[in-house]
Amino acid sequence: MKNETLRYSLLAFYTLTIIIVTGLIIYYGTSYYLLPLEERFFHPLHKVLKPTGFWGHGFGIIGSLSMLLGVSIYMIRKRVKKFSRVGILKYWLELHIFLCTIGPILVLFHTTFKFGGIVSVAFWSMVAVVASGVIGRFIYVQIPRSIQGSVYSVNELREEHENIIATVVKRYPDISDDINKLEEKLQSDFDQDKNIFYALLYTVREAILIKGSISSFKAKLNKTDLAKFEITRIITGIKNALTIKRKINTLRVMQQLFNYWHVAHLPFALIMLIIMIIHVIVSISFGYTWIF
Ligand code: HEM
Ligand code: HEM
Repeated sequence: MKNETLRYSLLAFYTLTIIIVTGLIIYYGTSYYLLPLEERFFHPLHKVLKPTGFWGHGFGIIGSLSMLLGVSIYMIRKRVKKFSRVGILKYWLELHIFLCTIGPILVLFHTTFKFGGIVSVAFWSMVAVVASGVIGRFIYVQIPRSIQGSVYSVNELREEHENIIATVVKRYPDISDDINKLEEKLQSDFDQDKNIFYALLYTVREAILIKGSISSFKAKLNKTDLAKFEITRIITGIKNALTIKRKINTLRVMQQLFNYWHVAHLPFALIMLIIMIIHVIVSISFGYTWIF
């Protein structure tokens, strides 16, 4: 199987698993989770869905194991030299995101939406790690990398941009003027000395601008004799080239931002882990051993 086919199959599997698992729990459990705490005891599902019940406890254990697995697999793959050639780093990050998304969802149902005691600090730290993960993912994709995860230099990116444009123009010389106009239109200056918010705003604004210009360009191409597959090929190429150009401008700021981001993501993960371990020890010492 080609790498990209494998990747899309895995992404589809991850997405479906998250939707199906969450959907099933919501479908079967909503009537229980919506009840006020004092009435839950009388609900027929209380026995299985409470945090110590078969499912409720299981959600906590499987969810926590899923997070532990998601973090350790990725960190080992990324940091241990011996494993540095196992699979593609990008795919491992996607597995990290999958396991660390489904894990917190299961833990959320484990809590049955009761956030009391010291363990609620672990819960909110988990929420903070997931939220910072989403932000981190956004910054991560602004920094172009090779398939193995090493960051491209500005020169490599410029070369890549030139190559894409040259390939498209060579194959479709008639549209070279249009491409030049498109590039000029999107040539807005980027001030490297301004702050991070400026870079974020620039990124969002340029992304919207590129999207808009590309759709009008596509509409124009649709009126020509070009076949559909050729239009798709041109549009994909131009879109990649323009996006690379945008990312070249913000590369330095995004790398800096990503370094700061690591400082936020990791401590919340550690706080969650430490309190989770205490919570598990306390639970076991109270005799809650699930099915064991
Ligand atoms: C990050 C992971 C976890 C979080 C955030 C978490 C959070 C919670 C919360 C908020 C409660 C409800 C507390 C209350 O009744 O006010 C709870 C209950 C409980 N959790 Fe967890 N939990 C996690 C993982 C686990 C794991 C892995 C186990 C199993 C070893 C576990 C076992 C229990 C038990 C036995 C209870 C019931 C305690 C009682 O009713 O006295 N939890 N958990
Ligand atoms: C409870 C859930 C999560 C935990 C405990 C967790 C923990 C971690 C840890 C420990 C790292 C390694 C940090 C380092 O290498 O310095 C990491 C990296 C990362 N995580 Fe998470 N994470 C969670 C959820 C997420 C989610 C939901 C996303 C995205 C939506 C995400 C995106 C990332 C990204 C982009 C990286 C950086 C990869 C890199 O620099 O190579 N994480 N996470």
